[in-house]
Order: sequence, then structure tokens, then C-alpha cells
Amino acid sequence: MKSLYTVKTLLKHINKYPKAYDAELLLLWVIGKEDKNPAYLYLNHNKALTKKQVDVFKRLHKRLISGIPLAYITGFCYIYNLKFYVNRYVLIPRFDTEILIDTALRHIQNIGTDLEILIADVATGSGCIVISLAHNLKKRKNLRFIGSDISHKALQIAQQNISYHRLKSKIRLIQGDMAEPVLKYISKSRKKFDRVVIISNPPYLSDKNYKKYYQNIKYEPQKALLAPDNGLYFYTKLFSQIMSELDKKIDIDIFLEHNYDQAQKIKKLAEKYLPVKMFKIFKDLGERDRVLHIKI
Ligand SMILES: C[S@@+](CC[C@H](N)C(=O)[O-])C[C@H]1O[C@@H](n2cnc3c(N)ncnc32)[C@H](O)[C@@H]1O
Repeated sequence: MKSLYTVKTLLKHINKYPKAYDAELLLLWVIGKEDKNPAYLYLNHNKALTKKQVDVFKRLHKRLISGIPLAYITGFCYIYNLKFYVNRYVLIPRFDTEILIDTALRHIQNIGTDLEILIADVATGSGCIVISLAHNLKKRKNLRFIGSDISHKALQIAQQNISYHRLKSKIRLIQGDMAEPVLKYISKSRKKFDRVVIISNPPYLSDKNYKKYYQNIKYEPQKALLAPDNGLYFYTKLFSQIMSELDKKIDIDIFLEHNYDQAQKIKKLAEKYLPVKMFKIFKDLGERDRVLHIKI
């Protein structure tokens, strides 16, 4: 018997509601075409759907309309051209973070291949930063990768992503408070590192900004977003940990994502705690300060 439902039926349904683009991506996922873009739906609008596909789509579509992010419904998202599993214990990676990944990656690619380098993603969440770096630096030798986070549940998702990307032998995950577990690892490790590259996208929203963006972020873990001291708490913590624990002979590069208005404030904090040799600000496509590179 011919199916009563086609892609066109659901496209009509989707267009009656907001979030049409996300709904199209949801439909692609429901029909097993997550690797296509929405144009596929329009080119194949006569494609027949089963009743089950229609029922599943309508149920999930209701959740999408209610405000639940698409990535939490499907359980994955893409960043830096890679797929990452996510759940409500981790932040959904943002495209802004691609600037952080890209800046750190280009820097590491320019460091001599003969040097022993430790690359640490502090506050790793889904693991998207450390995994993107390890994936793109697969061919390089003499690199060690660490991801750390305070949240055990976040580290479970990071582990799932590491396995999915077949990087188990490359990346170690450690639980702990900001840079503390990484610094302990360095001091206990028998290997002597010539360089340490610390990358972090810590929670950085002030109370005011958290309230301002609340409608868009309310399903994500508050602990991944909100930071005391006007959003600066975790930068201060990171700098003071590095200052008190690190071997002064190792060259350290720190790459940080931050909110648009925080670059100069973080610069002051870095200069207060660390012997800063170089400080550089990178902007996003909207020409707003977004990423810092601090060399000590
Ligand atoms: C903004 S999210 C970043 C997640 C991921 N790196 C990304 O860019 O999508 C911040 C992360 O910091 C973690 N976090 C919060 N407090 C922390 C702490 N004291 N020490 C380490 N990680 C912490 C949260 O669990 C969360 O995973």
C-alpha cells in the first residue's frame, strides 16, 4: 500500500512553526540522512515516509518547539567538521570555539617537531577542543594530550567522543579543578616536556549576562557557563594555579576563549599573576575580541 506521508507533508508542517532550519535537520536525522543538508528534503519531497517516522518526528519536533536544543534531542552536533556526542551534562559546543581550536592548532603546527609538547584542554566538557586538536595533529610525534574537567559526567561524554574518534591511545582524561590535575601530571611525569600548551574555554558568563542569555542557555549546565567575579573567576584560578605550581623553565602558551568585553580585564589578571612575555588578542568574524594567546 502506498504511504500517505511524504517529506512534503512534514515540510509543510515544519513551516508553520519557528526553528524551521533545526526542524529540517531533525527530519533528516529521523529519516537516516543526517549527513545531507536540508536541500535534500526539497529535492526529495515526494519521498514516502513510514507512519513510525512521522510519529517520531512529530514527537521530537514538539520538544524542539518547546525550546530544547536540537543537539540534546539528537544527542550530537558538529564542530570543526567533526561529530561530537553531547547530553545535558555538557555544554553544546559553539562555533565560536572553532576560533580557539584553529588558533591553537596553527600555533602547535609551527612548533618544531623535535620538541616534546604537552597539550592540555582544561574544562574539556564534551572533549571537542582536545579531540579536534588530536585529530588534526594525528601525524605528529612527540605530542601528549590531556583533557580535564571537574565534572565526572562530562568526562564520561568526553570519553565516548574519544572512543568514537579512535583517539583512546592519544588522549588522557583527568578529573579535577581547572589546571590542578594537569600541573600535577606534569610534575609527576617521567617525561620532560619542552613546551606546554594550555587551552581553555572555561565558564565565563557574569550573573548579568547569564540572566540576559537565559532563554537560549537554560537547558545547558549552569556550571559550564556561569562564573563568579563578573565572569573572571576561572581565569584568575587558572593563572594562580599555573603561577604557584609550574616549573619556571618550561615555555607555556595559554589559549583562552572569553566573552567580547573581557580581553583587557584578563590581560590585567595575567600580568598580575604571570610573567607574561607576549599577549595577543584574536577576533571573531564580527571583529569582536574572542580568543587570547598568552606566552609565559
Ligand atoms: C564553557 S564549558 C566548555 C566545554 C568545552 N571545552 C567546549 O568548549 O565546548 C566549561 C566547562 O568547564 C567545566 N568546569 C566548571 N568548573 C570547573 C572547574 N572548577 N574545574 C574544571 N572544569 C570546570 C564544566 O564542567 C564545563 O564542562
